[in-house]
Formats: sequence, C-alpha cells, structure tokens
Amino acid sequence: MTTVHERTPKLQTKLPAVGTTIFTVMSTLAAEKGAVNLGQGFPDFECDPKLVNAVTDAMTQGLNQYPPMTGVPVLREAIADKVATLYGHRYDANTEITITAGATQAIITAILAVVHPGDEVIVLEPCYDSYVPNIELAGGVVVRVPLTPGTFRPDFDKISTAITPRTRAIIVNSPHNPSATVWTEADMLTLQEILAPTDVLLISDEVYEHMVFDAAEGRHHQSAARFPGLAARAFIVSSFGKTYHVTGWKIGYVAAPAALTTEFRKVHQFNVFTVNTPVQYGLAAYMADAQPYLDLPAFYQRKRDLFREGLGKTRFKLLPSEGSYFQCVDISAVSDLDEAGFCKWLTTEIGVAAIPLSAFYGNGFDQRVVRFCFAKKDETLNTALQRLARL
Ligand SMILES: Cc1ncc(COP(=O)(O)O)c(C=O)c1O
Repeated sequence: MTTVHERTPKLQTKLPAVGTTIFTVMSTLAAEKGAVNLGQGFPDFECDPKLVNAVTDAMTQGLNQYPPMTGVPVLREAIADKVATLYGHRYDANTEITITAGATQAIITAILAVVHPGDEVIVLEPCYDSYVPNIELAGGVVVRVPLTPGTFRPDFDKISTAITPRTRAIIVNSPHNPSATVWTEADMLTLQEILAPTDVLLISDEVYEHMVFDAAEGRHHQSAARFPGLAARAFIVSSFGKTYHVTGWKIGYVAAPAALTTEFRKVHQFNVFTVNTPVQYGLAAYMADAQPYLDLPAFYQRKRDLFREGLGKTRFKLLPSEGSYFQCVDISAVSDLDEAGFCKWLTTEIGVAAIPLSAFYGNGFDQRVVRFCFAKKDETLNTALQRLARL
C-alpha cells in the first residue's frame, strides 16, 4: 500500500501586499463592541419593495436559467435609454453594454481585457481598494498619482507627467470614494484634452452617479459619457447595488464603445459568463420608472445634512461632501492618534466605527482624516451622533 501524504503544496502568492482589509477589521471590531458601523459603505435600510416584487415576479415566471452572456436585452435597452436621456450619449444596447456581477467584476474584467504585462495604469490616490490588486493580477504596473492633499481635487500637472508611452489606462472615480468629491465639467474637459493625443483608455468608475448633491449650486454628475473624446476611450462602470440600495445583489454594468466591449466580453465570458437572470428582469421592469434614481440625490442629501449638522457640534473639522454617501472629517482637534489608531479607539471607546483614509493609499499616507458612511437609517445616524457628541 502506498502512503498518502496530506501535504498542501506551497504557493507563491500573486498578491503579497493583500491581507485582511481594514473594512473587515473595522466591521469585526464594530460587531464585537456593539458599535454603530459607519465604516463599511452599505445601507442599513431596505430597498423599495416594488423592486423585490419585480424580481420575485421574474422568478415566479420561470426566468431562472442562464441569460445571454452579455445580459438580458430588456435591461441593456433600459440602460441605453437611461444613459442617453441623462448624459446625451446613446450606447448600442447590443454591442456596447454588458451586465456585470457588480462594479467590482466590471473593473477587474476591463483591466484584464486591456492591460498587458508591463503596461502602466494610473490610479489617483486615495482610491478604491480593488484597483491596485486588479492591475497587479493583469501583470500591469501601478502608477500612483495623488489627488491634492486637503482638497482631493485632481492635479492635472501630475496626471500629465505620469503619462508615458507605456500608459494603457487611467482609472477615475467620481463621485469619489473615499473623499466625497465630485469632478466638475472643467475637470472632465481637462482630462479629455490631456488624453486626446494619447492611446490611454479611461476606466470611469461612476458607481455613485446618482448621489451628487447641491444641484442648486450647479453640481451635477459629469459622466464620461457626456464628453465625446472621453466616451470614445472609456469603460463606464455603474452599480445597481448603490443606486437601488441592494449592495448584496452584486449587479452592475459596463458601457463602452463596441471595439472595447468586444475585448471586455472575451474576458467576461470566462470569468463570470452570465449574471443572475431574475434580478436582471426585475431591474429592467423597475427601471421603467425613473423617479427612484431621480429622487436619490435629495434622499441622500437630507441624510448628509442631518449627519453634518450633528457632526458640526463636535470638534471634528468637516470636509465637503459633494457626492457619494461618505463624509470625511479631520480628527486633529479631537485626537493625537493616527487615523487607524483613532478608528479603533472610536469603535471601542465611543461605539462608532469609521474608516481611516490611510487604507486607500499604497504607502498608508496619514493626513488625520477618517471616513464615515451616512447611508444609514436616521435612527442609526442619530445614535451615532449622540455618541460622537462627546468629542
Ligand atoms: C468606488 C467604488 N467602486 C466600485 C465599488 C464596487 O461596487 P459593487 O458592489 O457594485 O461591486 C464600490 C463599492 O463600495 C466603490 O465604492
């Protein structure tokens, strides 16, 4: 009889820098300490029951088998109509829109589709945590360009300087997680001008597109779709999870010119193949009414204002929150701890969890700023504010 050796072969990790994320650390600590979790970005309230009914109807009707690889036509058409109405650019529903398993899968798929080993990809730090590992998995070289410290505005001189003949893509995220800034029309026009003479592609992460505040002051979401020179080179990524309060459904889409979509789908076909059928039909039916996403800015602006008013009574210095569902604060007047230490202290001693901005930088840059998420019931925000009032 041969001896069986239960030995798991040793691996060389592909992502040596990746460990347990701060989001998991803070959420675990928050649960352990019974803290109000304003760390991780997800709503603690329910979505519209009409949406659940629409998905349930699709399941009941037997729409439960594999959909087309690119997504069900009615949903792709609903997205094409919506983008055309809101941003003035009509994507072809057949050749230019693909339904994805959330924005996360959309972004990694776009990167795997276009980034060859050694290609450079520019990320603007602080940035969402999936971008860098995605580029590394594709064998790309991450080029980090900081947003301006303090204001988090794009520094176009630095962006221009970072572009080389090896630059394959730049990832832009507006409204921005974590800083809650929103790119202006002038910003997008400048980006368009900088990219015009290059072959650099744009991955435009627009998951918070419907959370832009202060429209009365002229602030609107500046989708890359509005700018022909950008749309022609862009993968535009959006997420139904954010728009409809269903982050756990993991469904989104990518809109991109046909030539880019063709390459995108070659990877999509083999990393996810298709996305949840009844949810796609349910969303398509629900999207017939534009009101839910048109009402979203006012819905979140009210929560932002409630939260800011309460925070205004503390010694935190409030940064602007122009869009997304985040509010950043400067902690300098409240504590001498570094950002991560402060967030742990705040969770343990005050009972409110937040996320350090250093988590969004490759080098852990610490500027004494932490992020709260206000996508929470008013009662949750009020409980958090009562606790934070001690600061
Ligand atoms: C900037 C940004 N991009 C992408 C995502 C991922 O979206 P999804 O849940 O649809 O994968 C998030 C979620 O937090 C995000 O904040």
